[in-house]
Amino acid sequence: MSSSTHAPVQSAPKIYNDKGAGTTSGGNRLQVLIDGLNHDLAGEYQAVLMYTQYSAVLTGPYRRELRALFQTEIPDELGHAQFLADKIASLGGEPTTVPRAVPHAELAREMLEQALTAEKQAIADYTLRIAQAEAFGDIGLKVNLETQVSDESRHKEEIERILSGWID
Ligand SMILES: [Fe+2]
Ligand SMILES: [Fe+2]
Repeated sequence: MSSSTHAPVQSAPKIYNDKGAGTTSGGNRLQVLIDGLNHDLAGEYQAVLMYTQYSAVLTGPYRRELRALFQTEIPDELGHAQFLADKIASLGGEPTTVPRAVPHAELAREMLEQALTAEKQAIADYTLRIAQAEAFGDIGLKVNLETQVSDESRHKEEIERILSGWID
């Protein structure tokens, strides 16, 4: 048998629908993806709580407009959270119920700065997750995450526009 003298044939990397059964690399890739999506889900729950709490405690001359802005973002973040929870469950993981902590803020400007930081974090996280989804071979997930990045970019830019002309 000549096969015993030959180096084992390297199989091509499996990137399509590889749930990792029996292969550590596929299994690792799946677990990394699930863990990452749970990290993102904790951030979306934080965003829901942040915009809800900030819109409640806001005071000052900008209360009405900022409250309206924060409250229009809540349904977007809730939709993101539901998508992530559904996807984590579909991949065989358990969606987290623990949000990232909401930073305390009292002044309207502090709230906007904290919200801006959170939106930038979400964009960075989804950018990484998109690469992981693509490596995992889940193009549907990649496309959905791109849509969520688009939403977060819109939120970020709106907050940046407000802060850029802020007068205390
Ligand atoms: Fe979001
Ligand atoms: Fe957002």
